[in-house]
Amino acid sequence: MNRLVIVANRVPNPRERGATAGGLAVALKDALARREAMWFGWSGQIAEQTATDPTEFKAGRITYATLDLGREDYRRFYQGFANGSLWPTLHYRLGLSQFSREDHAGYGRVNAAFATALAPLLRPDDSIWAHDFHLFPFGAELRRLGCKQRIGFFLHVPFPPGGLFCALPRAEELLADLAAYDVIGVQTEDDAANLRGALIAAGQAEAAARVHAFPIGIEAEPFTILAEKALTKRETERFRTSLVDRALIIGVDRLDYTKGLPQRFCGYGQLLARFKGHRSKVTYLQVAPVSRGDVAQYRALRRELDEWVGRINGAYAEPDWAPLRYMTRAVARPVLAGFMRMARVGLVTPLRDGMNLVAKEYIAAQNPDDPGVLVLSRFAGAVAQLPGALLVNPLDPDEIAEALDQALTMNRGERRSRFEDCAVSVRRDGAKAWCRDFLGVLEGANDA
Ligand code: G6P
Repeated sequence: MNRLVIVANRVPNPRERGATAGGLAVALKDALARREAMWFGWSGQIAEQTATDPTEFKAGRITYATLDLGREDYRRFYQGFANGSLWPTLHYRLGLSQFSREDHAGYGRVNAAFATALAPLLRPDDSIWAHDFHLFPFGAELRRLGCKQRIGFFLHVPFPPGGLFCALPRAEELLADLAAYDVIGVQTEDDAANLRGALIAAGQAEAAARVHAFPIGIEAEPFTILAEKALTKRETERFRTSLVDRALIIGVDRLDYTKGLPQRFCGYGQLLARFKGHRSKVTYLQVAPVSRGDVAQYRALRRELDEWVGRINGAYAEPDWAPLRYMTRAVARPVLAGFMRMARVGLVTPLRDGMNLVAKEYIAAQNPDDPGVLVLSRFAGAVAQLPGALLVNPLDPDEIAEALDQALTMNRGERRSRFEDCAVSVRRDGAKAWCRDFLGVLEGANDA
């Protein structure tokens, strides 16, 4: 079998695999286990200048090749254009998008540097799979260097309607760059329709025909086993004891303004204000590991959340009850899986999300005999696969409060039937199937 080359801005640290591996590393695990593979991208380190020669090391059958980013490139490419311009635009938040020509140039420069560093390492029959919004121009840069290999691209985040995307300066250039990829994958049919429309309007009709939706999933069974095992862990037992039989609501998100956290906290506050019977009877744990902490909007969000936590606990806490427990550190997956299994409600209310795998993990973690209820934003890509969830508009705190009350008071029969409606596709459409489907189209693409 030919080699698979994964290109992503974030490269997982093989020493951390399992416990804290990122979503992409977990999703690709099976594809990487079955063939020789290379993982190429940023080392996570910042240096004076962006490196030209990648640092390579091997772990099993995977070769890791990484580049340090120069300080200026980190600022322009990562903080600037990728996280300051593209991220908000792709999440429908034009008002938060900031554009500068220097950032845009830095984005192009780093994509070109990645391509120049990877090209000499490539074999003629490699399949190359680039991931996410950091790498729109990467395939075009490889083509400029004469690379003829199959190159696929998958966008993990939403793609907004063309009119919105094209408000971003230089958007047409990005669309033209996408045309260099043999397969262009997105999460949902809505994203696919939006991207096709934008490509056609930009004169890239041929590329539009190469856009397909591949909804990403999780491997449910291993996560269920992880959750069952977690119940015997000391951390889980200590946590359970601390709840003193109160119902648990759990939220797990990167600390990001797309996740709707202030609105969610406000919704929980409304639950306690309007449905007084839940006071002292429920605990909400929000795990929100700090992300992109050196980008201004993320720092502002953190301050806002600190205030919300103070406001809610200040208003409703009892000497022996804190209604909202909030932590900005990550919790290891094997422990988190147990917390999810214990939770009567999984609260997932992003304002926009490409897919949201936490929603699927929450379902996989449940005990089918006595499952909890998923309260889910109607703007998460996962909605199409989770028909048993209670859907909310994440901008309406009262709707969140009402859904929380409904979930907390739902009888076991309804909980079981809603859970089964969700579990069917979570079990069936896993990460393995996602990789197989994408690579099937990519590797069939040039054979026709
Ligand atoms: C999202 C993006 C990923 C990104 C991750 C963490 O899931 O789709 O591409 O890697 O967030 O963000 P960070 O900026 O820390 O890589």
